[in-house]
Amino acid sequence: MIGKLNHVAIAVPDLDAAVKLYRDSLGADVSSPVDQPDHGVVTVFVTLPNTKIELLYPLGDKSPIQGFLDRNQAGGIHHVCYEVDDIIAARDKLVADGLRVLGDGEPKIGAHDKPVLFLHPKDFNGTLVELEEV
Ligand code: CO
Repeated sequence: MIGKLNHVAIAVPDLDAAVKLYRDSLGADVSSPVDQPDHGVVTVFVTLPNTKIELLYPLGDKSPIQGFLDRNQAGGIHHVCYEVDDIIAARDKLVADGLRVLGDGEPKIGAHDKPVLFLHPKDFNGTLVELEEV
């Protein structure tokens, strides 16, 4: 069912420093920061030959990644994103298998303007999983 690894998201405590690290030290192709007010984050995408790294920085008072950064002050891997062809079919299969979809279970429009869902980390070996329909 799952296809490519679309991205690995890393929550960062200092976005400028993270951009410099990936752009200048690692020599990667790094996007400009984009505010995602619906998601409470600022995103920067690092494009690698085979996948992307999504740098996440809190936006606003109620950012969903603030608690994660409070627990992981150096930052850390926040989620992995797998591609699926049909997000509703994927969701229905996972729910039928007893796995938990976060929120109201309906896809939201993600950072790439495509439908996304998040799956409960306790059902996936401690890893928050994002599914994105491509
Ligand atoms: Co993501």
